[in-house]
Amino acid sequence: MSLPAADDKRAVVEAMFDRIAPRYDLMNRLMTFGIDRGWRRQAIASLALRPGERVLDLACGSGDLAAAALEAGGRVIGVDFSAGMLRAARARRLGCGLVRADALALPLADASIDAVVSGFALRNFVDLRAALAESARVLRPGGRIALLEVDRPASALLRFGHAIYFRRIVPLLGALVAERDAYTYLPESTAYLPDEPTLRAQLAAAGLGAIKKRSLLGGAAQLVTAARTGEAAEPAASDSPERARHA
Ligand SMILES: C[S@@+](CC[C@H](N)C(=O)[O-])C[C@H]1O[C@@H](n2cnc3c(N)ncnc32)[C@H](O)[C@@H]1O
Repeated sequence: MSLPAADDKRAVVEAMFDRIAPRYDLMNRLMTFGIDRGWRRQAIASLALRPGERVLDLACGSGDLAAAALEAGGRVIGVDFSAGMLRAARARRLGCGLVRADALALPLADASIDAVVSGFALRNFVDLRAALAESARVLRPGGRIALLEVDRPASALLRFGHAIYFRRIVPLLGALVAERDAYTYLPESTAYLPDEPTLRAQLAAAGLGAIKKRSLLGGAAQLVTAARTGEAAEPAASDSPERARHA
């Protein structure tokens, strides 16, 4: 599967996750040898949740991070636009709110959330800056955000091994367990990810500070944390009106 054109991306991504939802969790465990569970625990631990804090699991999928946030004492709402992924999350009877909505237009009031967590979703957003601005909008001042994503190892040797695994083995595994297209899209979609300085700049422009990046498993994944410390920066002239509305 080649990357969808910008205009088609939302519909293509939504339909893809609807299709793979029944096999999504199994593929995660197989692809990462279960290591993703530890990454998820680290993401939730980084939020240092106090009992009863309101947590948004942004693009929650089948609800793994929501489940971990509930275990940590949070009051959780999961938002995702894929009906299939939400069905998988609801089947787990997690005891949290699950809402079908777009991460770029959250049905949540300004400053109504104490912490936002999001796993492996940044690549999938049509407009990452808008998604970050929308997350910052719903976070109260001082609220924390933890973003888990895939990454590219810094060391040439690890990058070589990682590329073979991610670009050859994972699509084969996907073909056996779920569907090849979705697990070909997965490594290809890393092209949508900004490099670290750009992501830092986008977080800062959304009004998020104290930005830290932790590399996981030699750089196969990353955990980026930040806190809403102030007002969002004035949108640049080239930014969309949609983003400016929420900034
Ligand atoms: C790779 S899955 C990650 C699911 C879950 N966060 C996890 O950690 O396993 C990406 C999820 O993002 C959701 N998604 C992508 N774009 C979205 C958007 N604009 N609004 C809401 N959900 C979105 C997809 O439906 C999918 O469930």
